[in-house]
Amino acid sequence: MVQFRFRRWLCWCLAIVLSCSLLAGCSVNSGAGKTLRVATEPAFPPFEFQGKDGKLQGFSIDLIKAIAAAADFSVDFENIPFDGIIPALQAKTIDAAISSMTITQERSKTVAFSRPYFQAGLAIATRTDNQEIKSFDSLQNKKIAVQIGTTGAEKAKTVPGAQVRSFDSAPLALQELLNGNVDAVINDAPVTLYAINTGNLQGIKVIQQLLTEEFYGIATAKNSADLSLINQGLSKVLENGTYHKIYQKWFKSTPPVLPEKTPFANENKANINSFSLIWQSLPTLLTGVVVTLQLAFLSVVCGLVGGSLIGIMRLSAIKPVRWLARAYIDFFRGTPLLVQIFMIYFGLPAFCQELGFTWSLNRLVAGVIALSLNSAAYIAEIVRAGIQSIEIGQSEAARSLGLNSLQTMRYVIFPQAFRRMIPPLGNEFISLLKDTSLVAVIGFEELFRKGQLIVAENYRALEIYAAVAVIYLCLTLVSSQAISSLEIWMNPTKKSNSKI
Ligand code: ARG
Repeated sequence: MVQFRFRRWLCWCLAIVLSCSLLAGCSVNSGAGKTLRVATEPAFPPFEFQGKDGKLQGFSIDLIKAIAAAADFSVDFENIPFDGIIPALQAKTIDAAISSMTITQERSKTVAFSRPYFQAGLAIATRTDNQEIKSFDSLQNKKIAVQIGTTGAEKAKTVPGAQVRSFDSAPLALQELLNGNVDAVINDAPVTLYAINTGNLQGIKVIQQLLTEEFYGIATAKNSADLSLINQGLSKVLENGTYHKIYQKWFKSTPPVLPEKTPFANENKANINSFSLIWQSLPTLLTGVVVTLQLAFLSVVCGLVGGSLIGIMRLSAIKPVRWLARAYIDFFRGTPLLVQIFMIYFGLPAFCQELGFTWSLNRLVAGVIALSLNSAAYIAEIVRAGIQSIEIGQSEAARSLGLNSLQTMRYVIFPQAFRRMIPPLGNEFISLLKDTSLVAVIGFEELFRKGQLIVAENYRALEIYAAVAVIYLCLTLVSSQAISSLEIWMNPTKKSNSKI
């Protein structure tokens, strides 16, 4: 009963937050000629990707358009991250998904699949100069990159002793291999082969032997009326030769005969209750908390040192020094942190390779560098404003007592300024704590990524992300309490009051 109420309460909270966007995104779904909202993650060429003109294209895109024409419905594409597709189908914010999604037993417990529309399989990719990796067994104790929530990620988990790093998209996992940070990538064979054949991935080879045989299906929510419509259309295009033509266009070969069904059609999930689910996930989430805190503390310390230096440079009497500090602040404050993380982790090593030498960055180091460089820009402004806020009379008085400028700063200005800086510095720390979640994009398994990984396995987005949010909230509440205590402790008047 309590657990039911808790779930209902969570649903309400989510419903309120999402109501505006849902209202805006509603579409009418009745009878023939209706519009289906179809999700895809267009970073998986040749199946689904964005062409040079920004338009969606690929085998799956052509296929769903043909299916829509055959079954008399129209398609509204929605671009959704791969690991968000099943939660979105469950939440019914989309009607169907065509995203090279393998029909698996586990997924069939949560969503319904059309008849198979493509036969694929997983393959290992390594660098061409790697002579060690020749088969699945040789992956033992190696570093493997995968796309989060995919069958490749599942397969990588079964390799004994392997370190698995998960990325938001397949191209990012392949970039990690190119940059020399991992030994192999497990990905759908046609996708890796396409990237190599189109010349986009130089220096990478595919181990020929496939690890699995998989079939892609179009997914809908369980018991969705749209599924039979999609199946009708798919059967039509398979029979009338349209499928054949589309296959020829993208793969320059004749398609294999596809089965009409896969073994897992109407699976049902054993429904584990929300409390036990969160309870079971807690140890994993807490390991993420440790990483998040580590990242936040290291970055805030480096950010404080760097920011104070830059803040003081901003007050320098020498013009070029002031300009330099200003340029730094403008750059790091004016560009998104996410872009900075990508530039540092993926961009710099790729740039070095262009120059002819191999160099890669450890993820913790890259994360800390990106977060500290960014927060240093904000901290510099806090330091500058704090120092400038101290009345000129204070330094005049200090000078008249015979203190030199360094002593004036050290004993008179800075202690007072620092007290004023505490609240904005506290804000900065709290933002930084939350911003650590952005480092998930480089495969860093901090709190948010741990949550994503759990959802990728059990598709219980509501409970897991709610738990993640509550943990972040606890962390920020504890931090703001600590900051308030520091503020009281640093304030001589409040300090004596609080003792009374
Ligand atoms: N076939 C694999 C799976 O279902 C990978 C699909 C990834 N698709 C994508 N659009 N990124 O897990």
